[in-house]
Amino acid sequence: MALLEFKETYRSGIDPIDYEHEILIDLINELHTTLANDHDKTHVEDILGELHGKISAHFALEEATMREMEYAEYKPHMEEHNKLLDEILEIGQRFARDPSYDYMRDLEAEIRHWFMHHFVQMDSRLHNMMKEKGLT
Ligand SMILES: [Fe+2]
Ligand SMILES: [Fe+2]
Repeated sequence: MALLEFKETYRSGIDPIDYEHEILIDLINELHTTLANDHDKTHVEDILGELHGKISAHFALEEATMREMEYAEYKPHMEEHNKLLDEILEIGQRFARDPSYDYMRDLEAEIRHWFMHHFVQMDSRLHNMMKEKGLT
């Protein structure tokens, strides 16, 4: 089963953003499946690194948009981005120290939490503001 499910109700109404989100969710799901089925533990760090890279590229784009529009919630929004990225790094480091560590459980919990609390709530506030300001 896919880790994240993009529902029609998650659409922001801003086509390039929705497109970007769908691609990101697909990538997260794809890397998650790879991780779940790849029993060669030497790949874990590479896959986590790739996951980190894709998510961070999307966040950078969102942060650039917020700076351009002088978005009031920029700082707390960016802090949540950094928190998820730090957690992913931390999971990789914990695994490197202890190969018996259940990284999948923590990774799934972190990504689900980000998705339900950040993606669904904080991002949609940003999108609404973008629409209000006519930035779409
Ligand atoms: Fe986003
Ligand atoms: Fe965000």
